[in-house]
Amino acid sequence: MATETGTATIIDGKAFASTLVTRVGAAVERLVQSHNVKPGLAVVIVGEDPASQLYVRNKGETTLKAGMRSDTHRLPEDTTQEQLLALIDQLNADDGIHGILVQLPLPQHIDANAVLDAISPDKDVDGFHVVNAGRLAVGQDGLVPCTPLGCLMLLKDQLGDLSGLNAVIVGRSNIVGKPMAQLLLGESCTVTIAHSRTKDLPALCRTADILVAAVGRPEMIKGDWVKPGATVIDVGINRVPSKDPVKAAEGKTRVVGDVAFDEAAAVAGKITPVPGGVGPMTIACLLVNTYTAACRTIGVQPDDLLAR
Ligand code: GUN
Repeated sequence: MATETGTATIIDGKAFASTLVTRVGAAVERLVQSHNVKPGLAVVIVGEDPASQLYVRNKGETTLKAGMRSDTHRLPEDTTQEQLLALIDQLNADDGIHGILVQLPLPQHIDANAVLDAISPDKDVDGFHVVNAGRLAVGQDGLVPCTPLGCLMLLKDQLGDLSGLNAVIVGRSNIVGKPMAQLLLGESCTVTIAHSRTKDLPALCRTADILVAAVGRPEMIKGDWVKPGATVIDVGINRVPSKDPVKAAEGKTRVVGDVAFDEAAAVAGKITPVPGGVGPMTIACLLVNTYTAACRTIGVQPDDLLAR
């Protein structure tokens, strides 16, 4: 079978996210001037996990860059669920805090769902609360999980109108797969969610005009799973040993996505790289959500940050 090959356009999520942070910053400045309200984000981290510490530091720095208030609460590993819930109650009641994010994973002895559901849905900038999942499912205004929101922004920027396109999402998590499906359905795509029990996954992926990979398995999606000209969004962030055997023996790693990038880029029309694709959009969308939450508390319509 003859296969069209070419070189895909690389979607520069890092550049898009940087522009978005600047635009949120400008909107924040207008909000401060017009209403004397400075959006505030509280990030809570429990324990010392190095990857989580790095994410939380990045979130704090980017929040400040956009001119918002950033509070980081670092709690010890042995914090009890009651202590964490007490902090959330306090943040729910704090008028200067418009967004609350509890960094995951939490230590084993804490029930993550109980904690996430204790956050006021209107301050739930992760969009993980069941109320926000429900609002998204029925098409009401709520707060949408940051990673799928970032993916949608990139898709709309690249493709414009998405209606009628076939979208296949590989991965059915509450954080990415399911909300991504809801968002694409909202854009009138024909949506399929694939998962570990899906039959003939390669053939299904080849039907996709939009292929979103969110499984957490390094380079699982191969080049011949991609329909020529399709748009591929790679949500995966996986650490694998360095290609250089000497460095690998020293424990050096590199980051790859869920898509075998070089193969897929030879077939796709557009593709996000890892790193520098979806990842930077997640933090930028956290700021969008915090700004949106702040606007809603004072009955102001958030500027349409999606419009370009
Ligand atoms: N840990 C890894 N990604 C995320 C995220 O998007 N939100 C939270 N709260 N924790 C995470």
